[in-house]
Amino acid sequence: MSQRQLKINGEDKTVDVPDNMPLLWVLRDVLGMTGTKYGCGIAQCGACTVHLDGRAIRSCQMPVSAVGSRAITTIEGIGKTPTGARIQKAWLDEEVVQCGYCQSGQIMSASALLATTPKPDDADINAAMAGNICRCGTYVRIRAAIKRAAEGEQPT
Ligand code: FES
Ligand code: FES
Repeated sequence: MSQRQLKINGEDKTVDVPDNMPLLWVLRDVLGMTGTKYGCGIAQCGACTVHLDGRAIRSCQMPVSAVGSRAITTIEGIGKTPTGARIQKAWLDEEVVQCGYCQSGQIMSASALLATTPKPDDADINAAMAGNICRCGTYVRIRAAIKRAAEGEQPT
């Protein structure tokens, strides 16, 4: 066990956990932030996706000791970013969600994509979202929602 400071959704949190504990379990079991989901545990489904310094990563395969000082953003905080808020609105407008289990991860991957690629084409979307599996098959609506959110991008 060792004590470490994490920056999560803009807040500092202190946790006392084993170095090799995956970030997913620190979030869910230690901090009670259950919006990030467990699917496969082997970086194959995307349900556990969070951001480290804005980049989408699989938290089930990220030891907490490897996070360092990078800023963690989870589904609980993504709506506070302009891109995340646009994505969440587009998700509602397109009625993307079916059972919902995969959708935290989908939204985290989609918002990381739009943050770096404001006007993604289909190939960009395919590349960014390929690792996020949806057993309910909501892929068509996910693509539509990403495009809808991108149309709302303000020119910089
Ligand atoms: S639970 Fe992490 S990728 Fe499936
Ligand atoms: S909405 Fe059910 S798994 Fe994606």
